[in-house]
Amino acid sequence: MKNIVILISGRGSNMRALVESPIPGAQIAAVVSNKADAEGIIWAAQHGLSTQVVLPKQYAQRDDFDEALMNTIDQYQPDLVVLAGYMRILSSTFCLHYAGRLINIHPSLLPAFTGLDTHQRALDAGCRVAGCTVHFVTPELDAGPIISQGVVPIQENDTAAALAARVLMVEHQLLVRAVADFVSGSLTTVGNRVKHTPPAISTTAVLLA
Ligand code: GRF
Repeated sequence: MKNIVILISGRGSNMRALVESPIPGAQIAAVVSNKADAEGIIWAAQHGLSTQVVLPKQYAQRDDFDEALMNTIDQYQPDLVVLAGYMRILSSTFCLHYAGRLINIHPSLLPAFTGLDTHQRALDAGCRVAGCTVHFVTPELDAGPIISQGVVPIQENDTAAALAARVLMVEHQLLVRAVADFVSGSLTTVGNRVKHTPPAISTTAVLLA
C-alpha cells in the first residue's frame, strides 16, 4: 500500500477529490496544513483522516519550519507528497528531500503564469485557453516536469472567478488521475519530460477563435 500525504492551506477541494476517489493500492496517510483553521483540515479531521497542523509562526527561520514539516510528513513514510493548494514556498532542501515523489497542482497551463493570480493574468493576456497543470516539484517555483495538463476554453466576458470555478472542476479530475498514474508506476521522468506507460491518450488539435 502506497502512503500519500497531502499538504493544504485552505478550502481543500483538491484534497477532497483525492479522498473521495479512492485509488487502488494507495491510502491517504495524513493531511497536513500550515493553517489551523483551514476549511480543508477541519473537513479532513471530521472525516476521520489523520491530520497535522504545522504553524510557520512557531519557527523563527524558514529552514526550521521546513524541517519540522519534513519531520511531520516523514512520520507517515510517504511514497508521495501532494501539494493540493499549499500556498507556501518550500525550500530547496524540502524539494530535494522529496525529489521524484512530490507533486503540485497549479491553476494555469505551465510554463505560462507561474505564481499567483493566474486566471486574471490569463484573461489580461487575452488567452483563448486557460487550464491547470500537475507537475513534479523541483526547487524552482512551478517549474518541474509536467505530468498532465487540462485545458479550459476562455469564454467571451469571462471573469477570473468564473474561469477559476471551471478550471477547478478540471483540477479535481486531473489530480486524481495523476496520483493514480504515479501509484501504478506508469510515470518515468527523463530530463524535463514525463513518460506515461502506456502512453497518455493522444489528443487532436482544437481551434479556438
Ligand atoms: C487550486 O486552484 C490550486 O490549483 C491552487 O490553489 C487552489 C486550491 O484549491 N494552487 P483547493 O484548496 O484545492 O480547493
